[in-house]
Amino acid sequence: MKVTVVGAGNVGATVANVVALKKFAREVVLIDIKEGVSEGKAMDMMQCSHALNFDTTVKGVTNDYSATANSDVVVVTSGLPRKPGMTREELVGVNAKIVKSVVEQALKHSPNAIFIIISNPMDAMTYLALKSTGLPRNRVIGMGGMLDSSRFRYYLSEALNAAGHPATPSDVDGMVIGGHNDKTMVPLVSIATLRGIPVTQLLSKEVLADVVQKTKVGGATLTGLLGTSAWYAPGASAATLVEAIALDSKKVIPCCVYLEGEYGEKELCVGVPIVLGKDGFEKVVDVKLEGEEKAKFDESVEAARAVNAQLGDALK
Ligand code: 2OP
Repeated sequence: MKVTVVGAGNVGATVANVVALKKFAREVVLIDIKEGVSEGKAMDMMQCSHALNFDTTVKGVTNDYSATANSDVVVVTSGLPRKPGMTREELVGVNAKIVKSVVEQALKHSPNAIFIIISNPMDAMTYLALKSTGLPRNRVIGMGGMLDSSRFRYYLSEALNAAGHPATPSDVDGMVIGGHNDKTMVPLVSIATLRGIPVTQLLSKEVLADVVQKTKVGGATLTGLLGTSAWYAPGASAATLVEAIALDSKKVIPCCVYLEGEYGEKELCVGVPIVLGKDGFEKVVDVKLEGEEKAKFDESVEAARAVNAQLGDALK
């Protein structure tokens, strides 16, 4: 498998590094507009290949999309990251131009690629990538749900440990759906479990509300601490999606995809669980949403639509 990662900033470099460490890809091309940055980061990664025992070739290029030709997967991380105090949605204008141009250039050289979008605001950028290229919906996937679900599992495991129920994040099952948005993403508490035991039986309502809030602002908390957007978890999340495609694993992972009636919605991209395999997403998995979770999902959909409305001319 050949993977292109567009953008050699913190997130892009982490995607390339984790893909190499996972050993399923033959080649990763890291491309950026800043002279020397991709080349340097790729060389640094290759200098780990002996120590970390991987055979993937990581190659860095500046602006040269011909080097990305015939990629199976293209991961788009380009655009500005948010700064402390900013919402992801504030980046829509500036990042729309960048993402549109990047996707068009990459597609010219890799006409069969599956696109994974990380750039923010992620739901709107996924919608833009889909609409501006006219690609079938199975080939354009936003990464947010995977990341938000990892954060949810982490905060659940912390709360479970504090309540006397030892748990690692991988002991916990939990999904976040809706938009990748600090206010409106929907951690599905009702179906989260510790090895099959509903967390609602183990944690109080107050503790669960705190976990939900920490999950929603998981990215903003890190932006406050780091002065820029997070990269380890976003990069690892995208690499995990690439792996599911490479291995045709048919894993069920919450991701941002274009809905055509599923969850009663259409004409937008938003986070829902999907089955991921070699052709991209194969189907949307239905979760029966009720009561407050259904109302919150609907609210999240409306928020995503409002950001899409700001894409304006970029959609043409
Ligand atoms: C985050 O939540 C990068 O949007 C990303 O950290």
